[in-house]
Amino acid sequence: MTDATGADESAPTQPAADRASNRSQRPRSEAFKAFVMSGWALRPDLGIEPSRAVPFTAERRARLSERFPGTRLVVPAGPLKTRSNDTDYRFRPHSAFAHLTGLGTDHEPDAVLVLHPVPDGEGDPAADGTPSHHHAVLYVRPLAPRDNEEFYADARYGEFWVGARPTLEDVTTLTGIEARHVTELRDAIAKDVGTDGVRILVVTGADETIDTLVEAIRAEAGVEGTEEASDDALVEATSELRLVKDALEIEQLREAVARTIEGFEEVVRALPRAVAHRRGERVIETTFDAHARLEGNAVGYETIAAAGEHATTLHWITNDGEVRRGELVLLDAGVEVNSLYTADVTRTLPVDGEFTEVQRKIYTAVLDAADAAFEIARPGTRFRDIHAAAMKVIAARLEEWGLLPVSAAEALSPEGQQHRRWMVHGTSHHLGLDVHDCAQARRELYLDGVLEPGMVFTIEPGLYFKADDLTVPEEFRGIGVRIEDDVLVTQDGNENLSAALPRRPEYVEAWMARLRG
Ligand code: GLY
Ligand code: MN
Repeated sequence: MTDATGADESAPTQPAADRASNRSQRPRSEAFKAFVMSGWALRPDLGIEPSRAVPFTAERRARLSERFPGTRLVVPAGPLKTRSNDTDYRFRPHSAFAHLTGLGTDHEPDAVLVLHPVPDGEGDPAADGTPSHHHAVLYVRPLAPRDNEEFYADARYGEFWVGARPTLEDVTTLTGIEARHVTELRDAIAKDVGTDGVRILVVTGADETIDTLVEAIRAEAGVEGTEEASDDALVEATSELRLVKDALEIEQLREAVARTIEGFEEVVRALPRAVAHRRGERVIETTFDAHARLEGNAVGYETIAAAGEHATTLHWITNDGEVRRGELVLLDAGVEVNSLYTADVTRTLPVDGEFTEVQRKIYTAVLDAADAAFEIARPGTRFRDIHAAAMKVIAARLEEWGLLPVSAAEALSPEGQQHRRWMVHGTSHHLGLDVHDCAQARRELYLDGVLEPGMVFTIEPGLYFKADDLTVPEEFRGIGVRIEDDVLVTQDGNENLSAALPRRPEYVEAWMARLRG
C-alpha cells in the first residue's frame, strides 16, 4: 500500500539487520573506544606446551599425503553453528580436522588446515623422518590485539565475550603446525591452481563458506566441474585413515570408556531419585551428562535413557518418562574426552537391582549373541561376520521361543530375515572421534573389510519387543534389551575395553547392590 507521496506504508523503516540495536546500547563514542582499548597489563604467558598429539598427527598427515601427492588438501574445522538467533552451540571441530591437527575441545572455529603440495624431499616428515609430499599450514583467526574493535565488540570472537583465544604462536606451539592468519587463506588456496597447475581437494560439508570459496577459485582457474567428484575421495580418505587407531587414539578411547563407566556408576546411585521423580529418565540423563561435562568434554552423542517400553525405541532421547520399579532401564551413553574421542556403551539394568525371570531370559539371549560376536572378533575376521555371529544366536533363541514364522535357518537366509523384526539395527560400528566413526569409508573396507589390530568398534546386539507387538507373548511386551561394549582388535583376538562394566546378569545385580549400599 502506498500513501500520497508514493512511499510504501507497510515497508519497515528499520532494516532487519539493525534490529539487534533495539536491544542494547553499544557505546560508540571515540572517548569510549580510546578508553576501553587502553590501560591493560601485558597478557600473561599462557604456558602453552606442545600437545602430546604432535608426533601422532604428523604421522597421520604424512599417511594422507601419501595418497594425494601434488594435490592441495583443504580440511576445514567448520564454523560456529547458530542455535537460535544470535546464540551459537558450543563449538566442536569436524572430526577430520581434529584427527589431523590434534585440536579437540572447542578449537578452533573457522580454522582451516591446508596441506600444500611441495617438491620431492621438501615435505613435512613422517614419524620415521621420511619427507611427505606436503607442508601443512593451519589458517586460524588468532586473538585480536586490544586496539582492534573485535577485542570488545565482537560477540562471536572477541576476548570480552568468549575469552582470550590462542595467538598464531600458541597454535604453532600446541600443534607443531605452521599457523597463519585466516585472511591469507584465499590466496594460499588459489596459488598456482589451473588446468596445468595444482589441483585442490576439499573435505566438503565441514564448512559451506570454504566449499563455496574453493568452487569460486576453481571457476576462476577454469577447472570447475572437473574436481568436485574427487572431493569425495578426500572425504573417503580422511575417514579410512581412522579405521586403524594409533597408540594415542587407543589411549584416549580407554580414557573415554573409563569416564563412561564412572558415569554408569553415578546413574545406578541415582536410581532411587529417578524412581521418585515424575521424569525419572531425565534424572538418569542429567546424572550421566553432568558426569560427562565434569570429567570430559561432553557426551559423545545424546544420551538414551529409556525406561520400560521406551527401551524399544532405539534412539529414545526425549527421556521424559517415569522410571518404574520392576521394569528395566536401558542406558546408552558415552563420555567424549577433551580430545573428542568417545565411548559408546549400553547396559540394560533392572530398576530394583534384580532381573525378573522373563527379563533375565531375554537379557541372556542378547548376552549370548554378544558373546558369539566377541568369540570371532580377531584379525582376519570379516567385519560383517561379527553381525552374522550375533544374528545366529538371536534367530536360534527366537525359534526356541516359537516366535519365528519360519525356521531359524530360513530366517537367517537373505530372503528371510524375519528375526530382524526384533532387532532392526546392526550389531557393530567403528568408534573413535565420531560415535559412528569412519562412516565415509568404502564398503570393501568397512562392512566387507577384514579386522586388523588397532580397529575399535562396538558389539551391541539387542532384542526389542514393542508393547503392541501381537506376535510375542504378553510377558515379553514392552521389554527392550541392548548390551553394548567397545572392542579393540588385538594381535591375536580382542580386548573388551568396557569389560569393567559388568555384563552377566548376576554380576550386574552384585554391582548394583554394592553401589546402592
Ligand atoms: N549408541 C547409539 C548408536 O550407536 O547409534
Ligand atoms: Mn553404538
